[in-house]
Amino acid sequence: MTDDWNDYAEGWDDNSDVRRYASRAFTTLDDHLNLCGKDWQSKRVLDFGCGTGLLTENIAPHVEEVVAVDTSENMIAVLQQKQLQNVRAAHGDILAGDVPELENAFSGFDLICASSVCAFLPDYSGAVAVLAGLLNKGGHFVQWDWQASDDDGFGLTLNQMKAALEAARLGSIRVERIFEFKSDEQGMPVLIGAGVRNTE
Ligand SMILES: C[S@@+](CC[C@H](N)C(=O)[O-])C[C@H]1O[C@@H](n2cnc3c(N)ncnc32)[C@H](O)[C@@H]1O
Repeated sequence: MTDDWNDYAEGWDDNSDVRRYASRAFTTLDDHLNLCGKDWQSKRVLDFGCGTGLLTENIAPHVEEVVAVDTSENMIAVLQQKQLQNVRAAHGDILAGDVPELENAFSGFDLICASSVCAFLPDYSGAVAVLAGLLNKGGHFVQWDWQASDDDGFGLTLNQMKAALEAARLGSIRVERIFEFKSDEQGMPVLIGAGVRNTE
């Protein structure tokens, strides 16, 4: 194992668990926001920590544009090779405002999603606050992460997620267990965390 995401880019899409996670995330996103409905056809979406774009691929046909960003150059290279029509894939750190390819297209999102990203961030709560600031008023933030068994375990707890969404001043907060993977007879639950940027 390495902790450099670049090392996982090649072959990422061949991992059936990774594909299944993205597919479950998309299904639950559509259930949550009716993303396949016509209201979303004129909307802009940010896929934060997009990896090779497995979630992006599902979202793009239903919206005007997906901006897909990741700090891993190799993950973004795989996504760029897919040449998706209305997807702008860019490598860089959007939390630090450092994605040269995006120029001034950093904000004005109707939806920001983060699939299996937030639990890997050194400052999860700070990241949600930054991302919330990139949303249009009334825009949605939605994340999925492995559920941690306690505060020190890998993943995020329900309380950690709820606290971060509240600290980012998001409204209509939803935090719950949304699906589960089975590994060696052990359940690996996944949480969804969602909130809306206030309109005032
Ligand atoms: C478990 S992978 C998930 C990738 C993708 N969302 C998926 O579901 O296939 C985590 C991703 O988060 C990215 N990542 C980690 N820290 C990041 C940051 N600060 N900004 C953007 N992406 C980040 C990694 O490079 C990696 O591609």
